[in-house]
Amino acid sequence: GASNRVSIVEMAPRDGLQNEKALIDTAAKVRLVDMLSACGFERIEVTSFVSPIWVPQLADAADVMAGIARRPGVRYAVLTPNMKGFEAALAAGADEVAIFASASEGFSQHNINCSIAESIERFRPLAEAAREQGVPVRGYVSCVVECPYDGAVAPESAASVAGRLNDLGCYEISLADTIGRGTPQAVDRMLEAVLAAIPAAKLAGHFHDTSGRALDNIGVALERGIRVFDASVGGLGGCPYAPGAKGNVDTLVVDRYLKALGFETGLDEDALEKASAFARSLRSPA
Ligand code: HMG
Ligand code: MG
Repeated sequence: GASNRVSIVEMAPRDGLQNEKALIDTAAKVRLVDMLSACGFERIEVTSFVSPIWVPQLADAADVMAGIARRPGVRYAVLTPNMKGFEAALAAGADEVAIFASASEGFSQHNINCSIAESIERFRPLAEAAREQGVPVRGYVSCVVECPYDGAVAPESAASVAGRLNDLGCYEISLADTIGRGTPQAVDRMLEAVLAAIPAAKLAGHFHDTSGRALDNIGVALERGIRVFDASVGGLGGCPYAPGAKGNVDTLVVDRYLKALGFETGLDEDALEKASAFARSLRSPA
C-alpha cells in the first residue's frame, strides 16, 4: 500500500562520479543513466551545472543531458548552485533542479565559496525563476551532524538552514551526512530539531557510508517518518570539498534493507545489479 512506499533517489551519476579523479567518458555517463532509467527510479540525479573549474568531472553536464534516453515517468534532476547553473540546466532540459546549502559555515565556504547567509540570497532568484517556470526545486542541507572543517554541528543549525530552504519553496529537503560520521543518536537529535519546523513528508535522508552507519541512520529516519532516501549504485560518491567522505550508501543495500522491513521501493533488483556493476567499473583503481 501507499503508506509502505519508500522512494530511493539515485545519486550515482552526480554524487557518485563527481569525486572520481580520472575523467570518465561522456558516453559512459550516458550509458550509466540509461541503465538506471531501467531500474524503476522516479528520480535520478544526472549531473551538476557547477563551475567546471571546481568540478572538472562534470564539465560535460549539457552533453550528458543531451545524450540520455528519457524514460517517461522518470524525473532527471541536476544540481544548480546559482542562476548561471539554473539557466544552463533549463536549456539542457532538466526536469528538476537542486540547490545546496550547508548547516556549517566551514563547508559552505569550501564547497560554494560563500557564507550560509550569502548562499540563501544567491538561491533566492533561482527559486523565484523556478517557481515562475514550474520547475521543482529540491534543497540539500550538507553537514547536518558533522562538518569536516567545523566538527560537530548543532541540530538547531541544521533546522535553521532546512527552514530557510523550505521558505524558498523547496518541495523537499534532503538532510545530508556529508562525511558519513553521524551516529544514530546524533542523527536522531538532528531530526527531532528539523521536524519541529518541517513535516517528515517534505524531508529526505542523504547518508554517506564512511563509518558503516548509513543503514542505522536510515532506520532512525524511518522511525521518524521519513520515506525518501538518496543512494548510489555501487556505493559510489563523495565530495571533493569534503575530505575523508566516502561514497553514498549503496542503492542495492538500501533496497534490500527496505524490502526486508516490508517497504516497497518499486525497484528491479536485476536491473540494479547490472547498473551497480557498470558503475563500479567506472571507478578508478584505488
Ligand atoms: P566562485 O568562483 O565563487 O564563482 O564559485 P563566481 O560566481 O565568482 O564565478 C567564477 C567563474 O565561474 C566565472 O567564470 C563564472 O562564469 C563561472 P569566469 O567569468 O571567471 O570565466 N561559474 C560557472 N560556470 C559554470 N556553471 C556555473 C557557474 N557559476 C560560476 N554554475 C561556485 C562559486 C558556486 C560557482 C563554485 O564554488 C562551485 O561551482 N561549487 C560547486 C562545488 C560542488 O559542485 N560540490 C559538490 C556538490 S555538493 C555535494 O556533493 C553535497 C551533496 O551531495 C550533499 C552532501 O552529501 O552533503 C549535495
Ligand atoms: Mg553527497
